[in-house]
Amino acid sequence: MALDSAFLDELRQRVTLVSLIGRSNKLVRSGRNWKTCCPFHGEKTPSFYIYEDHFHCFGCGVHGDAISYVMQSEGLSFRDAVERLAHEAGLEMPREDPRAEEKARQVASLEEIMQHVQAFYRRNLGERQGEAARHYLQKRGLTAETITRFGLGWSGDGRSLTEALKPHDITPEQLAQLGLLRCDEQGAIRGELFFNRLMFPIHDRKGRLISFGGRILGEGQPKYVNGPETVLFSKKRTLFNLHHAAEAVRKGAELVVVEGYMDVIALDQAGFRGAVAPLGTALGEEQLALLWRQAKAPIICLDGDIAGQKAALRSCELALPLISPERTLRFCRLGNGDDPDSLVQRDGAQAFDALLQSSRPLVEELFSLMVAGKAQAGPEERAVIRKRLVELAHQIPDRALAGEYRSTLLDLFFSYFRNHRSGRISWQGSRKDPVWTGESKAMFPGTVQQPRMIAEGASERLKVLMALLIAHPEILPQIEQSFYQLTLSEPLAHYRSVFLEWASQTGTTSPFSCQNWMKEHGLGELTCELLEHYLPQSARNRPVGKEAAREEKKEEKEDLFFVGVAEMWWHFYGLVNFPAFKEEVERAVREAILKSYERPLDESSGNATFPPEVKAKMQALKALQQGEN
Ligand code: UTP
Ligand code: MN
Repeated sequence: MALDSAFLDELRQRVTLVSLIGRSNKLVRSGRNWKTCCPFHGEKTPSFYIYEDHFHCFGCGVHGDAISYVMQSEGLSFRDAVERLAHEAGLEMPREDPRAEEKARQVASLEEIMQHVQAFYRRNLGERQGEAARHYLQKRGLTAETITRFGLGWSGDGRSLTEALKPHDITPEQLAQLGLLRCDEQGAIRGELFFNRLMFPIHDRKGRLISFGGRILGEGQPKYVNGPETVLFSKKRTLFNLHHAAEAVRKGAELVVVEGYMDVIALDQAGFRGAVAPLGTALGEEQLALLWRQAKAPIICLDGDIAGQKAALRSCELALPLISPERTLRFCRLGNGDDPDSLVQRDGAQAFDALLQSSRPLVEELFSLMVAGKAQAGPEERAVIRKRLVELAHQIPDRALAGEYRSTLLDLFFSYFRNHRSGRISWQGSRKDPVWTGESKAMFPGTVQQPRMIAEGASERLKVLMALLIAHPEILPQIEQSFYQLTLSEPLAHYRSVFLEWASQTGTTSPFSCQNWMKEHGLGELTCELLEHYLPQSARNRPVGKEAAREEKKEEKEDLFFVGVAEMWWHFYGLVNFPAFKEEVERAVREAILKSYERPLDESSGNATFPPEVKAKMQALKALQQGEN
């Protein structure tokens, strides 16, 4: 029995061929794609290529999609292969529908009808009745070639479509089914949906004509009318121009999402052939999936106004639970009042090119959206922002990536608010919101322009820092800011991400929980190495957790020169990067002084009123300055 073609499409879309084949074959990269030794004939050098929706072996010629792969590799029937893939993809098999075959035939004929409709609209545009529309297109700068390429047409006055298609045996009912005739609640046909409109054909990913959008000439409401949902057309699964863009992207074009039909068309004419647009709605999950089939990091290009900002935030939030190291987004923002169409018409292609060059990664976009309007935030509000950033990073399913997002976002956070608080580095001249200046690096002066120096022999000391933390995670709150900002290379960078992930997920300070976590995440070996070879002797026999806190308090009174674990940490931190450490201590002291309402403190008498975490840093600095390494 035939299976519904929409279901099969959905299934093919859900299944990633690379991971399916990669499960039982060792894949190697080949440009944008992957290849492997053909599983269907013996060979030593890979000639079996895997593309996004099909595979092909240049050795033996086998060829197919996910379903035929499962059929051939496991000897299953079509239906059984579909069933297995559907099960894995979490899709329910459609119930057997005796009318499915009939429906498939119907769909094929509906597609043909759409072609006749388009031909009719195009003919209208060329006739006398299309004169105003032709002028309008000319005024908007479209060439004859572009008009043909996009198949633009003129609807006519809304009284002749049915008549014109009669000779092709096309019935009003069929036109109604395609959304071209409007029906009332009783189902009676009331007239044509489109009249006096410029017609924009809408295609699916494979280039099949599935609907139309219609624009009024000049001003008027509604500006655009789009075809309704039909058997052929689902708005949320469609992106205008994806069929052209996909081809261009394969040839190296950037995949760019813009807001409107005219933007796509103007960009295409200006040489940016990878532009697509949603159909008058915000970008949805299924549209993101469509985009990621074509490119790892499509660029979302939005207006510079408040609406554009909101749309950007929505896209970020939508994307986070879906991104991975292999699929993400980039963003660029237009100047106020512009759309891509007006920009290229006025300033030419290079202006849009510059805009694309300025696109920034999702993590930066997200950060600037979260702090927009918050430059003056006080401690309470900052704490809320920081918490939100951590929560956002947490939505990313890929652990390593979530860890990287968390540390990058916090890095940006500390840097942004430090710059605001100290007033030392101006944030684009004054305390204002981060404004997109078109150059990615200008955005975060604190993080980008101050390379964190790492002294020689530092990698050993970095391991000590890490060892202290996994033996005494309770010190994390005291040192976290500097810890996030340390420049680490692999394997420590990954180790830190996993550690931070542990801290944010469990919220405990137990070293056992921490070390177990590291082991469970495949980092057992490094954990043992750190604890055995890099943990300073004096940190080894210290009590941990609550007890440690109690001890530290007790000893604090008794012995001002007591070396706590945090102090030890700062000591090694200072050895790794003395200037940064010194600056950090000075900042902490300044802040502590500002915070206390007592008289300014001098070293001899005031020490006792500094909070312990500041004191630990001061002690470590003093020791380092005195050369007590
Ligand atoms: P815009 O209003 O930004 O239009 O709507 P535009 O693309 O710049 O068009 P021009 O330049 O005025 O001709 C962006 C998109 O939102 C949808 C359409 O898909 C449009 O391309 N839209 C807009 C509607 O569906 N209905 C409307 O009434 C307006
Ligand atoms: Mn426009």
